[in-house]
Amino acid sequence: MAFALTQEREQQVQEILTRYPDSRAALLPVLWLCQKQHGWISPEVITFVAERLNLSTATIKGVVTFYTMFFEEPVAPNVVWVCRTLSCDLRGAKCIQEHLERRFRCRPGETSEDGKFTLLKAECLAACGQAPMVQINERYFENLDTATLDKIIDEHANNTPRSAHEG
Ligand code: FES
Repeated sequence: MAFALTQEREQQVQEILTRYPDSRAALLPVLWLCQKQHGWISPEVITFVAERLNLSTATIKGVVTFYTMFFEEPVAPNVVWVCRTLSCDLRGAKCIQEHLERRFRCRPGETSEDGKFTLLKAECLAACGQAPMVQINERYFENLDTATLDKIIDEHANNTPRSAHEG
């Protein structure tokens, strides 16, 4: 089915386009808006953005595959990124990762059995001084231990796709 933005988001696109010298420069924020609405960048979203910004689908795909913030597959309402780079690794990221794998019963790159969480690994998320940390949707949670993380996960369990990504 063809993708289209809501009227409100279409107005946001028009406002975005006034801030950039050309439509190509507006590609990242427009893709971000589309992902907020749709949850991921589907082939239909790529076709929509290509037509809306008068760019090739190859250009859109190149950007989507380059930036990890864009999802090329459907994801759960909550996307949990576990930082695995040095500072977090030294401060227990592996323990955090394994704890989440057990809790979600899934491996990195997969979605939990209940469909509520997608688990991903991340390279340094620039919060090294507060390691170990995870990013859930658009928020950082730092200085974690497994008990604190469990509470945070519990608080996210009832998120819907809309409530998780509208913040
Ligand atoms: S190493 Fe984890 S935030 Fe930098």
